[in-house]
Amino acid sequence: MNILNFPERKKDHDPIVMVTCYDYTMARIVADSDIDMILVGDSAAMVVHGHDSTLPISVDEMAMHVRAVRRGAPDTFIVADLPFLAARKGLENVMNAVEAVMKAGASAVKIEGIDGQADLVRHIVESGVPVMGHLGLTPQAVNQLGGFRVQGRSEDDRARLMREARECQAAGCFALVLECVPESLAEDITRALEIVTIGIGAGDRTDGQVLVLQDLLGLTLGFKPKFVRNYLDGRSLVRDALNQYAADVREGAFPAPGERYAG
Ligand code: KIV
Repeated sequence: MNILNFPERKKDHDPIVMVTCYDYTMARIVADSDIDMILVGDSAAMVVHGHDSTLPISVDEMAMHVRAVRRGAPDTFIVADLPFLAARKGLENVMNAVEAVMKAGASAVKIEGIDGQADLVRHIVESGVPVMGHLGLTPQAVNQLGGFRVQGRSEDDRARLMREARECQAAGCFALVLECVPESLAEDITRALEIVTIGIGAGDRTDGQVLVLQDLLGLTLGFKPKFVRNYLDGRSLVRDALNQYAADVREGAFPAPGERYAG
């Protein structure tokens, strides 16, 4: 997958499949799968670092995750999130953040929201860096939104999100993530735009889907949003393996003779 493939995937109604990934080991497995592209999301703040929002992660930490993922997935299209406020601290700071994640190995950056930053997006695109937009539930604005809740339910909100989606396209975004919006709105936006839409909690009418890897693998603790499907009971599998290891050590069954060095 490269930047030139996105329009043809939309034209051919060939759904784009994206997952998040934050480390080398998992990136190798994702790269060896049928997944089209990776998002090094700032959700790393929550699922890797244990924060209760995406706000605390820094540009340096994002770059570190991108570097690890790139080593594991050398040929995969990788989108890196610009973290909280990175796009709001003046042109030089923004471009430093873009430079950090692109030099770490990203193929594109993702920026939440468009209001007040369309010119910035245009500048990044004109600098040779593909930009993915992100509208709907934009987790970096969780304090403004009053929690992680579905967006675009009222007529006013629908109209606003449609306007913002068109602005993302006009500013040069090559793709747009739509998070936690009613499926009819995601469908309207997908039809209205020439660029691809990638949904999470946005129904099945978008041009692609994205899930957080730990959610998909059933590794996430706590609340499970209704749009998440666990394709594996990862927590039970990992816990069972750990318990088996602990039992084997305690019973003298590990290490076995073939798992030791002689001499
Ligand atoms: O950071 C992230 O994982 C994301 C996805 C939920 C789209 O932005």
